[in-house]
Amino acid sequence: MKDLLLNQVAVVTGATAGIGKAIALKFALSGAKVILIGTNVDRGETAVSEIHEAVPGSTAEFFQVDVADHEAVRVTMKDILSKYGTVDILVNNAGITKDRLLVRMSEIDWDSVMDVNAKSCYNTCHALLLPMMKARKGKIINMSSVVGLTGNPAQTNYAASKAAVIGFTKALAKEVASRNICVNCLAPGFIVTPMTDALTEAQKEGILSRIPLARLGDVEDVANAALFLASSLSGYITGTVISVDGGMALGG
Ligand SMILES: NC(=O)c1ccc[n+]([C@@H]2O[C@H](COP(=O)([O-])OP(=O)(O)OC[C@H]3O[C@@H](n4cnc5c(N)ncnc54)[C@H](O)[C@@H]3O)[C@@H](O)[C@H]2O)c1
Repeated sequence: MKDLLLNQVAVVTGATAGIGKAIALKFALSGAKVILIGTNVDRGETAVSEIHEAVPGSTAEFFQVDVADHEAVRVTMKDILSKYGTVDILVNNAGITKDRLLVRMSEIDWDSVMDVNAKSCYNTCHALLLPMMKARKGKIINMSSVVGLTGNPAQTNYAASKAAVIGFTKALAKEVASRNICVNCLAPGFIVTPMTDALTEAQKEGILSRIPLARLGDVEDVANAALFLASSLSGYITGTVISVDGGMALGG
């Protein structure tokens, strides 16, 4: 595993916490140069220090940008390309929830979730796709969710954004396959992170009863799947959704 991504340049959005941070560390441990994208400078710099400590001599750098902001993403990706020369791997992981029953959901709650979770994929891919096409090489991994496959009450905005990510992935996979660019999705189930810390114990118990493998997921479970999709091990896989959910999407 150590050299699986040797010298690959990987951009990971939402890499200052939870799943994204674990993916950035996993990629660095596998030899990649990692670029962490997030909004919080303190958390970003802490994440970079943790990677440097865990992987001495590794290249890791934080860039502050709101992934929902098209122009800011364009400028940041241009800076990254001029500094690193290429981006080989893009992980669109940044995401938020604004859970409400639909009748109480404001337009802001709808738009912000769609913008951060779904439009962000357009923003980053729009900025990075041409260089990947020219290089005839690229791996794009978009973060969906079990909820994008199954739906969930009080999450119409989140479920719609995560289903949009799946449609986006499949369409883009077809567009760029001839340029040797693979585009895939991960659909995590219930993974213990700051995002899920907000749930009550009763909610967590309810979720646990719907997981066939009978445990909550951890960030390592998702990072391992991301490593597979980022590496040459998945060279013949594009346009797929890999569920990392302990069987949750099976229902029943
Ligand atoms: N935790 C789960 O159970 C779970 C399940 C399914 C899918 N997911 C998805 O996995 C991804 C990561 O989730 P997590 O649980 O690690 O979340 P988290 O809240 O722990 O981390 C989210 C990260 O995204 C960043 N972020 C948020 N808004 C941003 C913005 N506008 N611009 C740039 N960065 C921004 C945050 O700063 C943070 O680094 C999300 O897309 C989430 O929807 C999580």
